Amino acid sequence: MIKKYCFMMIMLVNSFNLFAQNFNIIPYPKSIEPVDASFEINKKTSFVMSKVDDNTKQIIKGFVNKIAKSTGIHIEVTPNKPKANYIVIDFNPIMGEEEYRLKVDAERITIESKGNHGLFYAMQTLQQLLPVSIESPILENVSNLKVPGVSIVDEPNFSYRGIMIDACRNFKSIDFIKRQLDILAMYKINRFHWHLTDDQGWRAEIKKYPLLTTVGGVRKNGDGITSSGFYTQDEMREVVRYAAERFITVVPEIELPGHATAALAAYPELSVLKKPIDVSYVWGNHIEVFDPSNEKTFEFFTDVFKEICDIFPSEYIHIGGDEVNKTRWINSENCKRLMSEKGMNTPLELHGYFVKRVESILSQFGRKVIGWDEILEGDVNQTTTVMSWRGEKGGIEAANLGHEVIMAPSNYIYLDRYQGDPTIEPMALHGYNTLQRVYEYNPIPKDVAEDKKHLIIGAQGNMWTEYAFTDEITEYRLYPRAIALAENLWTTPKNKSFDDFVRRLDRVHQVLDYRGVNYHIPLPEGPQHKKVVFVDDVTLTFTNTRKLKMLFTLDGTDPSAKSMVYKEPLKFSETKTLKIASMLPTGKMSPVRTIPIEKTKYALPFEGPVTPGIQMEKALGFFRDSTSYPKTGYTSKKIIPEFTPRKEFNWRMPSLEIYEGYFAVEEDGVYSVICDQELLYINGQLVIDNNGVIRRALRNRSQVALAKGLHKFKLCMNNNVIGGFPAVWSENTFYVNKVDDKGKPTAIASDKLFH
Ligand code: ACM
Repeated sequence: MIKKYCFMMIMLVNSFNLFAQNFNIIPYPKSIEPVDASFEINKKTSFVMSKVDDNTKQIIKGFVNKIAKSTGIHIEVTPNKPKANYIVIDFNPIMGEEEYRLKVDAERITIESKGNHGLFYAMQTLQQLLPVSIESPILENVSNLKVPGVSIVDEPNFSYRGIMIDACRNFKSIDFIKRQLDILAMYKINRFHWHLTDDQGWRAEIKKYPLLTTVGGVRKNGDGITSSGFYTQDEMREVVRYAAERFITVVPEIELPGHATAALAAYPELSVLKKPIDVSYVWGNHIEVFDPSNEKTFEFFTDVFKEICDIFPSEYIHIGGDEVNKTRWINSENCKRLMSEKGMNTPLELHGYFVKRVESILSQFGRKVIGWDEILEGDVNQTTTVMSWRGEKGGIEAANLGHEVIMAPSNYIYLDRYQGDPTIEPMALHGYNTLQRVYEYNPIPKDVAEDKKHLIIGAQGNMWTEYAFTDEITEYRLYPRAIALAENLWTTPKNKSFDDFVRRLDRVHQVLDYRGVNYHIPLPEGPQHKKVVFVDDVTLTFTNTRKLKMLFTLDGTDPSAKSMVYKEPLKFSETKTLKIASMLPTGKMSPVRTIPIEKTKYALPFEGPVTPGIQMEKALGFFRDSTSYPKTGYTSKKIIPEFTPRKEFNWRMPSLEIYEGYFAVEEDGVYSVICDQELLYINGQLVIDNNGVIRRALRNRSQVALAKGLHKFKLCMNNNVIGGFPAVWSENTFYVNKVDDKGKPTAIASDKLFH
C-alpha cells in the first residue's frame, strides 16, 4: 500500500515537472492536464464564429490580426464548422464570468466560457501556449504554430486584481496608460485604479469647475519649471472604453477631504482658511483640507461626482480619505460649531461625517465607495470597501467589521518601493518589496475571522510616482512585480511556486522586450560602496534576488554572455576596475555595476593645532547642481563651535551651504563614508558625488583608507529641487565608520569635528 502511494507521488511530481517544462502560462491556471496530441495553426486553420455579438467578434479579430501581423498566417473566420483544424467557442451560461476552459487536441481548439470575459481570458492563455514570436510587432518568419495538447480549467482565486497608477505627482500620458492596460490585461488584471487628484495636481477635467485643471493641473516647481497635464473627459472616456475592451474596470480616485491642495489652489473658497494657495511641489502630508462646515463643499462634490460617474461606469468610486491633517478643522470656529451641532467630539468623527456625506452623494448616483483604511477611524457605512495600505491592520479590522476589503499593504505590495538593495537601485521613496515578496504575499491575513475571509475580495499594487519621473522608471518599478501580483491573485495558492513563476517569467521578458518595456532585472548585490579600497587585499561576494547568472570583467569592458562567470567570492590584491552584471536566461543583461577597487595606503593625518567646531559659508539662491555653484556671493565663513546636524530645511528658500573642517578617526583603517548631501571631499578628494540626484536614505557610499588622526573635509549642501520635488531630505552631515564594523552606520559626532 505504502509502495503504491509512493509510486503515485512520484507520478504526480513527474507530471508537475512535465507541466513546468512545457507551459509558460502566467497566471498559472487552476487545473492543467497535458493531452497526448498537438494542434497546428496554419494557413488552413479557421476560427468558427456564428451568431456572436460585436464584442466577441472584436476579441476574435484581435487574436486573428495579431497572428497575421506577426506570422503572416491568416486564420479564416467562418460561420461553418469544418471537419478539423479549427478553433471554436462554446458559450456555457452556467459558468462564472471570468471562468474558461480551453481544450487543445489534434483536430480543434475548443474554448468554453459564459461570455466574452471568460473568452478573453481563454485567448490570453491560448496565446501563451504559442511561440512567443506571435507577440512580435513586426512580421517574423513562422510557417506553423504548434499548440501543445492540453485541457485547462481555469478561474481566478480573487475577484479584484488591481493596479493603481498615480497620475498626479508625475503626469502620465493617455498612451502610457493604454500601454500598461495592454500588458496588464494579458495577465488577467481586471482593475485599473486611476489616481487622478492630489496635492500636486488635479488631472481630471470637470466642466463645471474648469479651474481644477487650468489652475489645479499646473504646478510651478521650486526650480521654476512648470509641470502640467490633465485628461479631457473624452480622453478619460477613451481609456474607459479601451480598458473595457480588455475587461479592465477603471476605478477613478478623487481624493478628499485631504490631499486637496491642487483643488483648493483652484477653489480656495472650499478650504477652511479660504486663502489663496499654490499647487504643491512638495509631497507628503499637507495642511490645507476641504471645509466640512461649508455646504458649498458638498455641492462641489455633488457636481464633481456627477461628471465623474458619467465618465466612469465603475460600480465603485475611490474617494481617498488618507493622511488627513486635522489642524485646520481643530482651529476653525465653523468646524467646532458643526461638531457641537452634530454631537461630534473628535476631528476623527468630523472625518467620518465628511466621508458619509460623500457616500450619500455617490449612492444617489448608484455608486459604492472605496476609501483608504483611514476612513475606518470615523464611522462609515457598511457598504464601504476599505483599501488597506498602512499594512494589513486596517484590512483585518474592516473585514472583521463586515466591510469588503482590498489589500494594498505598502510593506508588501506597493510597487513604488525598492525591489533590490536600495544603495544600488535607482532612487525610490523608501521600502523594500522584492518580486518574491510581492508574489508570496497572502492577501488573507490569519487574523481575519473564518466567516469574514470571503470579504477580502482581492489586492492591489500601487504605483505612486513621486520618484517615478519618467515612463521608463515607472515601468521599471511596475514590471515584473505587477505580473507577480497578477499570478498571486489569480492562481490557486496550492499551484503557486515562486521558482516556477521565475522560470515562466522568461516568456514575459520576451513579450516586454517586443514592447520596449524597461523592466527590472536584478542587479548583482553585496558590495554597497561605489568604490572599494584596501591596503592588503579584499574579497567581494555577490548575490542577486533571483539566482541569476552573473558575469564580470576586469579589463574595463562591459560584461557580456561571453565574460567570466561569477562562481565564488572575488579576491583582489591589486588595483582593478570590476564590472559585473546579471543575465536573464534570455541573454539580456542587467545594468552594469562598475566598482573601482583600489589598493592604497592610509592617508596621513593633519598635524596642525585645531579648535572644536567647523566653519560654514552660505549662498542664497537656486543652484541646479554642483556645476552651477557660484564663484562669489557667499557669506564670510562662520564658525559653528558645536555642530548639531539639522533635518528641516526651508524648501521655499533655496540655498547652498558649505561646511569645512577636520574630523578625527581613532585608528588606522578602511572607512565607509556615507553622505546624503551633494558633495563630500575628504583630504581634497571628491569621495561622495551626489551631483544632480535626490539625496536621501544613505544610498551613496564610498570608502577611504585613513590613518589615525585628523582629516580634512568639505561638505556641500545644495538645498534645491530635482525632478520637481525638494532634493534634500536628510541631515547635513556625513557618516564615517570602519568598513568591517557591521553595525548600523552612525553620523560623525560633534566632538570629532574641528576647524
Ligand atoms: C497612501 O499611500 N497614502 C494611500
